[in-house]
Amino acid sequence: MSWSTDRAVAPSILSADFARLGAQVAEIMAVGARVIHVDVMDGHFVVPISFGPVAVSALADQVHAAGGVIDVHLMIERPERQIPDFLSAGADGITVHYEATPHVHYALAMIREGGARAGLALCPATPAMVWEECAGTLDLLLCMSVNPGWGNQELIPHSYAKLARLRERLGPEIGLEVDGGVHAATAPKVSAAGANLLVAGSAVFGATDPGAAFRELERSAWES
Ligand code: DX5
Ligand code: ZN
Repeated sequence: MSWSTDRAVAPSILSADFARLGAQVAEIMAVGARVIHVDVMDGHFVVPISFGPVAVSALADQVHAAGGVIDVHLMIERPERQIPDFLSAGADGITVHYEATPHVHYALAMIREGGARAGLALCPATPAMVWEECAGTLDLLLCMSVNPGWGNQELIPHSYAKLARLRERLGPEIGLEVDGGVHAATAPKVSAAGANLLVAGSAVFGATDPGAAFRELERSAWES
């Protein structure tokens, strides 16, 4: 899979039913999901605590056997301290927040040296172009379209223009992922603004039929 050019909806397991996580992941992979988004929260960088490397290693074999990748989004302070554990757990891509460490360049290089795709996430208030100093060590830019920490929030409208500005400057080697408030009505707009990876939590796992919701999101993003 190409993180920079493939178009995909990436279901976030944050909104899944953890009592039957494996079955929920199997359900969406059966209808074509190949990028599984894992939201890691530490109770410091963001208020909630979610889960850590154990959740990644619990899913890694299943996701890889079905031809998918695990897209880890670290909403944690000083992510460079935790990157080795997520690499060992089977992460295929790891995204760190620009706001979470003074050592962004070092963290991105560490991810790449560990054999994974390196992503940089920007909160809504962070200027779009801060990634430029890390251009040579970056595979993916994750544009937060809500304030990180919680699922099921409304997309902040200024995200569309920010995505477009990012897409214009990132170049073909760097993928553009959008995260937060993506559902059937907003998916075509973030796609039109240039995002190629669309994270969706509540719009997939909050639906009565997650598989059908996933397919509808892909259809609305790229076929309408
Ligand atoms: C928010 C997380 C998101 C979240 C998205 O902090 O990074 O990945 O799961 O949830 P929805 O799609 O419900 O906005
Ligand atoms: Zn996320």
